Amino acid sequence: MATNSNNLIFLLSILSFSFLSISTTGNQTTSLPSTYSHFQIKQQNEENGPFVGVNIGSDVENMPSGSDLASFLQLQKITHVRIYDANPDILKSLSGTKIRVIISVPNNQLIAIGSSNTTAASWIYRNVVSFYPQTLITGISVGDEVLTTVPSSVPLLLPAMQSLYNALVASNLHQKIKVSTPHASSIILDPFPPSEAFFNQTLVSFILPILQFLSKTESPLMMNFYPYYVFMQNKGVVPLDNALFKSVTPDKEMVDPNTLLHYTNVFDAMIDAAYFSMKNLNVTDVVVLVTETGWPSKGDSKEPYASKDNADTYNSNLIKHVFDHSGTPLHPEVTSSVYVYELFDEDLRSSPVSEANWGLFYGNMTAVYLLHVSGIGTFLANDTTNQTYCVAMDGFDSKTLQAALDWACGPGRANCSEIQPGESCYKPSNVKNHASYAFDSYYQKEGKAPGTCDFKGVAMITTTDPSHGSCVYPGSKKISNKTKEVVNSTQSNSAGERLRFRIMISCIKINTILRIFLIAFLPSLLSVVLL
Ligand SMILES: *[C@@H]1O[C@H](CO)[C@@H](O)[C@H](O)[C@H]1NC(C)=O
Ligand SMILES: *[C@@H]1O[C@H](CO)[C@@H](O)[C@H](O)[C@H]1NC(C)=O
Ligand SMILES: *[C@@H]1O[C@H](CO)[C@@H](O)[C@H](O)[C@H]1NC(C)=O
Ligand SMILES: *[C@@H]1O[C@H](CO)[C@@H](O)[C@H](O)[C@H]1NC(C)=O
Ligand SMILES: *[C@@H]1O[C@H](CO)[C@@H](O)[C@H](O)[C@H]1NC(C)=O
Ligand SMILES: *[C@@H]1O[C@H](CO)[C@@H](O)[C@H](O)[C@H]1NC(C)=O
Ligand SMILES: *[C@@H]1O[C@H](CO)[C@@H](O)[C@H](O)[C@H]1NC(C)=O
Ligand SMILES: *[C@@H]1O[C@H](CO)[C@@H](O)[C@H](O)[C@H]1NC(C)=O
Ligand SMILES: *[C@@H]1O[C@H](CO)[C@@H](O)[C@H](O)[C@H]1NC(C)=O
Ligand SMILES: *[C@@H]1O[C@H](CO)[C@@H](O)[C@H](O)[C@H]1NC(C)=O
Repeated sequence: MATNSNNLIFLLSILSFSFLSISTTGNQTTSLPSTYSHFQIKQQNEENGPFVGVNIGSDVENMPSGSDLASFLQLQKITHVRIYDANPDILKSLSGTKIRVIISVPNNQLIAIGSSNTTAASWIYRNVVSFYPQTLITGISVGDEVLTTVPSSVPLLLPAMQSLYNALVASNLHQKIKVSTPHASSIILDPFPPSEAFFNQTLVSFILPILQFLSKTESPLMMNFYPYYVFMQNKGVVPLDNALFKSVTPDKEMVDPNTLLHYTNVFDAMIDAAYFSMKNLNVTDVVVLVTETGWPSKGDSKEPYASKDNADTYNSNLIKHVFDHSGTPLHPEVTSSVYVYELFDEDLRSSPVSEANWGLFYGNMTAVYLLHVSGIGTFLANDTTNQTYCVAMDGFDSKTLQAALDWACGPGRANCSEIQPGESCYKPSNVKNHASYAFDSYYQKEGKAPGTCDFKGVAMITTTDPSHGSCVYPGSKKISNKTKEVVNSTQSNSAGERLRFRIMISCIKINTILRIFLIAFLPSLLSVVLL
């Protein structure tokens, strides 16, 4: 993941949008101007997406073993993952799971693969052919943000992609497994308004042939998009609500003056900027796949917006946005699939603090925060929905608890059948256990309304499912008797070298701001003066 120097450009754009929006918000354009509708990507169907996957970085102190990881992914109903290498332990463990995986060629292997067809062929043999189809490898991401972070490898990027592709053709796997390379969003300049976006000219001689390769092989353009950094580097200009996909009032929508398309969130604007940049190079049949996006849950004093609340809001809204199939303003018919960055907090990563806090889960597989994704199906539905339970608090005498229990099962009309002798929640037979069940039964019956988990102060709300053994609490999603296995963590961190660069741009240069400010304001100022 890398931060974007081009995020600066958002400043310009969003400054100008606020002027332009005054004259255009009155008329909501829903259909595209005809000049923008020559798009050749096929309509999506059930099979080809969209989906939400997760990135699995492995700078985790107690990285779960491959098999623990595979069971965890299944438990969480995670169907698509991306790893930063081709870790054989993980690939073996995913065998037979139907979990689809994108594997990666680390940047430090690019030169070898790009300069020898034999090396590429043996890479495919070792990392793909030996596992496929038991392990459903669906893509190879060749290098990571190479154009912006490893200039010395750039000339060998496309040759590496081509050699790997040729090796897949030789094994007849090229239809099933797509070869592409993830880019930092900073290769796109002037991303807002999206219709004016274009690829950095200096890089076009490399980007164009890559796009032509992607078009020819029907592979996606992989992009790493971080509205978090766009927001951080343009504070006060990009509203937080737009970065977090919150619903915004029309005056906060960003209007593209050329297309009159309305953008309610930064993420969609970034995707459309990629489509417009490709269109400038006459490439109109390559779909955008977001290989990384996310929001950190914790940061240092300079990162106040890295918080659990914001991370929850961003990722929950992102997931709902994808499952809504609403596409982008430019391409409502195509919803990009995304890979959330990332599954685990990578606690071994160094400063800034946010670097180690992008995960949905800690390495011990407990959730960092509870996603609000109810209503989107089973994805991540086990541990990170906002399901809550009501249980008896510690530290109260049995007489007080008994009185509350009697009220719940009596006047409160909670269903207390399961705590009768012989029933599944009778044991352990003590007042606290029975009270917890009765409190939860009442609380769920009352629709978890405020005030229904109090019982004169002896009850509390918890997000931990109190079900145990064959005793299933009201509101629990558990259906079987299966209890969660204790996972032994291992020290094996066999992931290979991973070179991912994070260039924090800590301060925006004053003269850049001035330039941007002038470009953005001058036309408006002039028009005011002329009037
Ligand atoms: C919006 O624009 C369309 C086409 O230009 C026009 O027919 C319609 O009356 C406009 N609506 C409003 C509310 O201005
Ligand atoms: C690799 O194979 C391709 C196609 O067969 C060929 O065009 C290319 O020259 C080869 N590259 C090298 C470095 O041998
Ligand atoms: C365009 O890419 C070149 C080469 O990587 C880089 O030096 C330059 O700063 C980029 N331009 C902008 C405006 O980001
Ligand atoms: C794209 O197509 C236009 C019109 O056919 C042409 O003028 C332009 O040179 C093309 N650009 C590229 C990068 O091929
Ligand atoms: C999991 O790890 C987190 C962070 O290190 C810690 O706060 C939490 O207590 C751990 N949970 C369990 C069940 O070990
Ligand atoms: C997770 O959810 C699935 C169904 O959504 C269920 O079968 C399974 O028992 C749940 N596991 C836990 C530990 O809650
Ligand atoms: C859980 O999420 C749903 C849907 O977003 C919401 O209506 C409900 O109030 C939430 N419940 C709690 C306890 O946060
Ligand atoms: C009470 O709960 C039990 C077990 O969950 C269920 O079988 C029974 O139908 C419930 N009774 C009522 C009145 O809802
Ligand atoms: C459910 O699990 C508990 C402990 O894990 C066990 O004692 C009990 O026999 C199981 N019940 C059923 C019906 O399998
Ligand atoms: C799990 O860890 C404990 C202690 O850390 C060890 O005694 C036990 O043998 C381990 N079990 C497995 C299955 O590795």
